[in-house]
Amino acid sequence: VPKLEEKQVLSNQNQPRASYKVAILGAAGGIGQPLGLLIKMSPLVSALHLYDITNVKVVAADLSHCNTPTQVLDFTGPSELANCLKGADVVVIPAGIPRKPGVTFDDLFDINAGIVKTLVEAVADNCPDAFILIISNPLNSTVPIAAEVLKQQGVYNPKKLFGVTTLDVVRANTFVAQKKQLKLIDVDVPVIGGHAGITILPLLSKTRPVVPFRDEEVEELTVRIQNAGTEVVEAKAGAGSATLSMAYAAARFVESSLRALDGDGDVYECTFVQSELTELPFFASRVKLGRKGVEAFISSDLEGLTNYELKALEALKPELKASIEKGVAFVHKTT
Ligand code: NAD
Ligand code: LMR
Repeated sequence: VPKLEEKQVLSNQNQPRASYKVAILGAAGGIGQPLGLLIKMSPLVSALHLYDITNVKVVAADLSHCNTPTQVLDFTGPSELANCLKGADVVVIPAGIPRKPGVTFDDLFDINAGIVKTLVEAVADNCPDAFILIISNPLNSTVPIAAEVLKQQGVYNPKKLFGVTTLDVVRANTFVAQKKQLKLIDVDVPVIGGHAGITILPLLSKTRPVVPFRDEEVEELTVRIQNAGTEVVEAKAGAGSATLSMAYAAARFVESSLRALDGDGDVYECTFVQSELTELPFFASRVKLGRKGVEAFISSDLEGLTNYELKALEALKPELKASIEKGVAFVHKTT
């Protein structure tokens, strides 16, 4: 009978090797802290670098006591940002202010646009080859901002810049499973477009397993998924927006990124990326992820849409286009 340590070695042989370095920028925030905890639990991560302008030492001291192999290091303030980023395989950016009741996504632009621009400049300088996962809102503008910054620095790789829209999919799966009394684990709803109000478009007709929806159900579920962020903002009544569900969703996208980097050939996620699926330069859709980032766009999701979905797709385009253009213009104005 193997001794306990031998058993652990034997079972560890079946585990993926922890060898990737992940950096979180904005690691002391409402999303950053639980996200750090979930990434600390990943068997694929050897080093977790936490960066914030405040309070990050406390978070690192706490997290570093969890007995998983991932080494946790903290970095505070702009002078330590370069060291945080060097050698990172995946950089996750949840830095920036969240909404409160009555605050629109666009209201966040003035502060968060500058934060994302500065942080992505540092990514361009220190780990231009990393997967870059943007969480900071307004996502429909911050991802184009990141792209422009990377272009200006001559290191833009559109296959490796992602707007994290996983929370929309997580919500869609949850709400559909509840409504149709399905086993949650089986449900998968692609969500396309962007990440704000009507730009979020769940493709309920593409739900797996195949399930029929009445027109009223489509309307009710679509509106709930589009307003789910506001549902949490209102519940928190001034204390911010979704943090725990967002950390869960971001951890899923980080894990998918690491599996893709590790050579898993079966990794699919919805994400807001540079795209040619529509006339818009950025668009969220399901993509296949591989070692080099986006490997393929799952264009079949956009085929055979219902009239409701087609109308909603046309309706979201002007708002999404304006948000993208606002992001691009911001970078050109400030340089
Ligand atoms: P928070 O205020 O709790 O945390 C933000 C953190 O960013 C803070 O710790 C702050 O110190 C840090 N920060 C600010 N400026 C920084 C800088 N220049 N460099 C590094 N860190 C900096 O906010 P939160 O609840 O964690 O939300 C963060 C962002 O994520 C918001 O913009 C929010 O709207 C967005 N969000 C996006 C999604 C999504 O689905 N993509 C979901 C929820 C929230
Ligand atoms: C969300 O979807 O929960 C986030 O984008 C935060 C917000 O303000 O809605």
